[in-house]
Amino acid sequence: MLDKNSMESSARKDSPLLQVQDLTVQFPAGRGKWLTAVDGVSFDLAAGESVGLVGESGSGKTVTSLALMGLTGRTGGRLAPGSKVVFDGQDLTAAPDRVWRDLRGGGMGMIFQQPIRSLNPAFTVGDQIAESVRRHLGLGRKAAMAKAVEMLELVQIPRAADRVKEYPHAFSGGMCQRVMIAMVMASNPRMLIADEPTTALDVTVQATILSLLRDLQEQTGVAMLFVSHDLAVVAELCQKVIVMYAGESAEEGTIDDVFFRPAHPYTSGLLASIPQPNSGTRRRLSAIPGGIPAAADWPSGCRFFDRCEYAKPGLCDAVHPSMTQVDGTSHARCVRASELTLAGVTI
Ligand SMILES: Nc1ncnc2c1ncn2[C@@H]1O[C@H](COP(=O)(O)OP(=O)(O)OP(=O)(O)O)[C@@H](O)[C@H]1O
Ligand SMILES: [Mg+2]
Repeated sequence: MLDKNSMESSARKDSPLLQVQDLTVQFPAGRGKWLTAVDGVSFDLAAGESVGLVGESGSGKTVTSLALMGLTGRTGGRLAPGSKVVFDGQDLTAAPDRVWRDLRGGGMGMIFQQPIRSLNPAFTVGDQIAESVRRHLGLGRKAAMAKAVEMLELVQIPRAADRVKEYPHAFSGGMCQRVMIAMVMASNPRMLIADEPTTALDVTVQATILSLLRDLQEQTGVAMLFVSHDLAVVAELCQKVIVMYAGESAEEGTIDDVFFRPAHPYTSGLLASIPQPNSGTRRRLSAIPGGIPAAADWPSGCRFFDRCEYAKPGLCDAVHPSMTQVDGTSHARCVRASELTLAGVTI
């Protein structure tokens, strides 16, 4: 069984496990220019907490996640000056790759949308989990393989002792995702970033993976950043949510505040795509007409202006809105937030 994250350093108990300040990620745009894909994202993740990161395709969720794993450079991007990532009291912003490598698969782990791509087809799943365990926990061969079996049991793979000897192609998509979760959780991470971990799976398999993640979180106390385009899924797993739009946070707060009393018209639009108990049909995210602007086309005012039914020309397109506190725990990037009463989820 995994340790409850008891290794938590007492000196750092009061500060959040992860602090992200003004995270700005840029990619080369030719002729020495850089284009901003993620723009000034700031949030905290406390030990044991689960935060959802939602938004339409292209809003910057994966770019944000990869930056938090120190992988921006590998995707050809860079962090702009002023960006800050502090994990467990350690400022990682300018940390050398060696430090990030130790943290990845150690203190922090990440699972992706396409688990099969993250597994090596040439090695058995047992070898792959054992290798991760040997590297990060320093166990010997035999103990590492025993840990691999234990981890497969933890993620509820039947006949774990046999299946540990099989290759990834023998596992279904859902089972592959379990293997990935097992591999990541084997090194007792304190933070798990799950980037659309169920999007590629059948609906029924999605539900089992989500409940597995919830159980693991309860058992281990791992903090989780759960990335999804699906607000309903986030509501099931997370205590807080950050709604991203065009590279920045549009609204954030506790699930209750954001879901029942959305303050940003974009959030309200996204919520309209969640199936309501008595409504039979499910509207898709495209319930909001139009699409997210590409980074090169971000307007200087509100980035949601073109799609917003409440937009006031001369006001909303005049200045880029900043995040301001609204009711309860919520903050929203909308100059009209305090005067609008927007539809949220109804029970
Ligand atoms: N390696 C890269 N080089 C250049 N631009 C990139 C790179 N990776 C991402 N981007 C740009 O950054 C923006 C945000 O992309 P990102 O992958 O984070 O979106 P997302 O919210 O994860 O979307 P999805 O729901 O489709 O996964 C997009 O406009 C994308 O084109
Ligand atoms: Mg993504």
